[in-house]
Amino acid sequence: MSTSTTAPAAITALGLRKSYGDKVVLDGIDLTIPKGSIFALLGPNGAGKTTTVEILSTLIAADSGKAQIAGYDMVEQAERVRKSIGVTGQFSAVDNLLTAEENLMLMADLNHLPKAEGRRRTADLLERFDLTEAAKKTAATFSGGMRRKLDLAMTLVAAPGIIFLDEPTTGLDPRSRRIMWDLIRDLVRQGTTIFLTTQYLEEADQLADNIALLDHGKLIAEGTADELKRLIPGGHVRLQFADAAQLAAAASVFGVATSDEESLTLQIPSDGSTTNLRAILDVLDTTEVHAESLTVHTPDLDDVFLTLTGRPKTDDPAHLPHQPKESAR
Ligand SMILES: Nc1ncnc2c1ncn2[C@@H]1O[C@H](COP(=O)(O)OP(=O)(O)O)[C@@H](O)[C@H]1O
Ligand SMILES: [Mg+2]
Repeated sequence: MSTSTTAPAAITALGLRKSYGDKVVLDGIDLTIPKGSIFALLGPNGAGKTTTVEILSTLIAADSGKAQIAGYDMVEQAERVRKSIGVTGQFSAVDNLLTAEENLMLMADLNHLPKAEGRRRTADLLERFDLTEAAKKTAATFSGGMRRKLDLAMTLVAAPGIIFLDEPTTGLDPRSRRIMWDLIRDLVRQGTTIFLTTQYLEEADQLADNIALLDHGKLIAEGTADELKRLIPGGHVRLQFADAAQLAAAASVFGVATSDEESLTLQIPSDGSTTNLRAILDVLDTTEVHAESLTVHTPDLDDVFLTLTGRPKTDDPAHLPHQPKESAR
């Protein structure tokens, strides 16, 4: 684990295993998540993300392995663990027949808050989540984004120190996703520890202090987004030319470059530094070849996933511009 912080761990896990029948879902998961940080468990559909959340939040039992959550043993002190955490599941806990306010007040009651305190927190959360106007409307009328916000607000009624968010933005439009991200960042600023699962590489990149890539029940890589990106090559500069002759002329002077005759582009390995870019431009100058445009590509988490698993992570709905709208849930 890359975390060199001295913050005490909010969550530690050692050798978590879980199988359903002869299907191995988790094949030995170790985790250390510092207090007050955002951890993202990143993986495609079926990787075992929800199973991990269910085990750590004591909803289901692991076949073997140990974990401490907020300092409590997941098995021996399950009740204490439950009191220290909040879980926003992949499927909404919102009651459609109740208003936003009623849903929040219900959570306050379930958490045995005194009435006045429950009302205060409800009002506060409605305000913070920009749901005040919708407070008296039944949740059935809410958009996907509003529902997801209400769901998170309901988790926060009890003011837990550790929050599990299982795919909090799956199916949300880009604007609602940004709002959720901001709310999550706010929570962490106040000291909350977030355990987030996501299929979105960009989401992990944006939010997480530490990321673990889960694939077929194993963590195949861990670290900060930058550390993961450094695991792989893939940075390059792409030059676009007006015609094949110029492309050929440029290709002849760059030693290690891949030229693509169809798109009239030349791809040159580069770390993206200004020194390197200047060197490339200098070479171009000496050849008197004119490039129409230059773009810099730094490796992103998609490249990491591709490199580590040997397959693109595009078999899911995670491609942000083509997000399907909230599906029925
Ligand atoms: N209760 C269950 N019974 C049988 N198989 C299950 C059960 N829960 C999950 N699985 C299987 O475990 C694998 C991981 O599931 P899950 O943890 O939900 O993945 P993710 O949340 O990453 O999409 C899947 O192949 C799923 O079908
Ligand atoms: Mg899941």
